[in-house]
Amino acid sequence: MIIGIPKEIKIHEYRVGATPAMVRAFVECGHQVLVETKAGAKIGFSDESYRSAGATIVDGPAAVYRAEMVIKVKELQEAEYAFLYEGLILFCYLHLAPDLAQTKILMEKKVVAIAYETVIDAKGQLPLLMPMSEIAGRISIQVGATALQLNYGGKGILLGGVPGVTPANVVVIGGGTAGTEAARMAMGAGARVVVLDNNVGRLHELDALYGPLLQTLYSTPQTVEDAVKDADLVVGTVLVAGKVAPKVVTKKMVKQMSPGSVIVDISIDQGGCVETSRPTTHDDPTYVVDGVIHYCVTNMPGACARTATLALTQVTMSYALAIANKGYAQAMKDDPFLREGLNVYKGKVTNVHVAHDLNLPFTSAESLLT
Ligand SMILES: NC(=O)c1ccc[n+]([C@@H]2O[C@H](COP(=O)([O-])OP(=O)(O)OC[C@H]3O[C@@H](n4cnc5c(N)ncnc54)[C@H](O)[C@@H]3O)[C@@H](O)[C@H]2O)c1
Repeated sequence: MIIGIPKEIKIHEYRVGATPAMVRAFVECGHQVLVETKAGAKIGFSDESYRSAGATIVDGPAAVYRAEMVIKVKELQEAEYAFLYEGLILFCYLHLAPDLAQTKILMEKKVVAIAYETVIDAKGQLPLLMPMSEIAGRISIQVGATALQLNYGGKGILLGGVPGVTPANVVVIGGGTAGTEAARMAMGAGARVVVLDNNVGRLHELDALYGPLLQTLYSTPQTVEDAVKDADLVVGTVLVAGKVAPKVVTKKMVKQMSPGSVIVDISIDQGGCVETSRPTTHDDPTYVVDGVIHYCVTNMPGACARTATLALTQVTMSYALAIANKGYAQAMKDDPFLREGLNVYKGKVTNVHVAHDLNLPFTSAESLLT
């Protein structure tokens, strides 16, 4: 198979869909890999390192999209729509539920669109989202702590306080992968931390992990409102896989927060779990509503792109190799969990949540593949 690795064009996105090590694995299986020039240049993967691994370096995206399968990181940007063609396999994050335009173009061009974020494993977890959520969760506390500083518009509170002075209140909504990492970082910095989740089993697991250091709360509109009101830093990490994020923090709750408080809405790539959230970029990451600083960058791990690329490709590699070696239909037959990643196929939406949220007809991937 011919595999293409484009340079990402989303603003300040320096992650790349394959490392030289991953290219080498493809080449050793007999595949040809086209890597766009400078695709990994910012994070220490030179064209030469890809060439040494067996890749062909090509100029510009048009040459990469001649491939049968394109492996990238972020959802398509508008400028990339022109390169799509019928039957192209696209393997990357897509986040289609809040993105009608991208979904429509993938349908129109009849792309085989496999989204990292809806592939599941035997436990029902999201193995290809997990490493990025871990990174975003950890970054959320760094950026939240910075935004709390007066010189960044915050209320001038140090996360951990000092002896004799109370630490900051950090409220993490959603205790999954990103939420757990955020809580861990915040506890490590010495903050008072509470995690809210509507999965009691998860609250039990968190309690067993961290004991009395971490307060856990069952998430209801009332508990969220009470916790958010007194928070210095709120981290939103709610996810219902594939769906638009529910707005668990309302405008009214944001209004009740004290000026200079901070919200980091990690869930923004699925539309955000805070009613006042809107997507921002690394160039201009924050804005203020009712005196509360909002950080809503949709590609947070892009800030630590080398770590993120290594973490991402270590989990995508086996799936990408299976697709390349067997073809997507056989790979998905052998691994029905990979089939969960198929979001658009033969012009139809094959993810039930995406179809529901965008009000489009749903067709099961299984029925189309057999
Ligand atoms: N902004 C970024 O750059 C970035 C990077 C990585 C991940 N993400 C996003 O972060 C989000 C979280 O990802 P994750 O891997 O941690 O998901 P996860 O599935 O591991 O965790 C989500 C948690 O939300 C909980 N939840 C669901 N509904 C809830 C509610 N009403 N109240 C409280 N909790 C509720 C679930 O029980 C679960 O524990 C996703 O939207 C993901 O796409 C964003």
